[in-house]
Amino acid sequence: TPRVFSGIQPSGNLTLGNYLGALKRFADSQNEGIESIFCMVDLHAITVWQDPDALRQATRQLAAGFIASGIDPDKSILFNQSQVPEHTQMAWIFNCVARMGWMQRMTQWKDKAGKNQQNASLGLFAYPALMAADILVYHATHVPVGEDQKQHVELTRDIAIKFNNDFGQEFFPITEPVIEGAATRVMSLRDGTKKMSKSDPSDMSRINLTDDTDTIAKKIRKAKTDPEPLPLEAEGLEDRAEARNLVNIYAALSEQSVDQVMAEVGGKAFSEFKPMLADLAVDRLAPISDEMARLMGDVGEIDRILAHGAERARGIASPILQKAYEIVGMVGAK
Ligand code: TYM
Repeated sequence: TPRVFSGIQPSGNLTLGNYLGALKRFADSQNEGIESIFCMVDLHAITVWQDPDALRQATRQLAAGFIASGIDPDKSILFNQSQVPEHTQMAWIFNCVARMGWMQRMTQWKDKAGKNQQNASLGLFAYPALMAADILVYHATHVPVGEDQKQHVELTRDIAIKFNNDFGQEFFPITEPVIEGAATRVMSLRDGTKKMSKSDPSDMSRINLTDDTDTIAKKIRKAKTDPEPLPLEAEGLEDRAEARNLVNIYAALSEQSVDQVMAEVGGKAFSEFKPMLADLAVDRLAPISDEMARLMGDVGEIDRILAHGAERARGIASPILQKAYEIVGMVGAK
């Protein structure tokens, strides 16, 4: 039976990239009736320094973002990672299954650790093994993510395969990454070769889900483009990273294919296209940011939702962890 799992780090603001690449698509599986588990990965967030108060705030804000994006906490399971200890328990087993070389090849590790790898946290290095545990402790079969997480899901498959081989049992499923839609890699508004990211020092490079209407419009108006009008067809976007990015965002927000969008806006100047995009973005994002603000007015309720989600998550994870312990040879596992 299919089971969906995905996670988002509660570190800083949610961006349009998180929304289009992940959040917006999460409600799909839930609404198709597939059992869906969504996690605020607070333990992943602390692989780099987080101010404790800011982490608490970001975790609740992220929970509000999930709910405002259409995740129903009664249908789906919504919780924060630290409250389900089976994640870290399974991660230890995977630390012993995965190889140093596998971790060293991860592009996120290389990017985040930078030049001075000796000074990065041990947790940042082991990050992908915890991510594999997030997924496999539920025997999740499908993981909706943006393009940048593909390598980590592939590593999850490698860990599952090695565990199954080492212990001679088909215990873990071989999980599929689900990377779909027009906006699996939303790029920076200032540089079409860089991913839109909550950690980019320039706030003008991204749209935050908490940005107000004027800010969203201003950021789109100022987005970098080339001087040519939009091409008539999608092929004309190939060598135009910034133009392609804005068209992809338009397509994802309006739930159309890129070809449909080009039929509508092909040949237009940016002076005409950008206000259309700004209107669309405000129209789609303002209700979400309003709903997030409303939910944040009752933090007690958010905390209750997360606690309830953690209880349900443990109900699934605990027997799978115990079975893994038993397979590995831990006395007392049941
Ligand atoms: P994180 O918190 O960086 O991002 C959360 C989700 O948003 C997607 N995303 C984007 N999609 C399109 N364009 C962008 N510019 C963009 N930026 C971010 C990410 O691909 C992701 O789907 N390691 C994960 C969190 C994680 C996880 C997991 C995910 C931990 N355990 C288990 C899935 C399953 C991360 O750092 O995502």
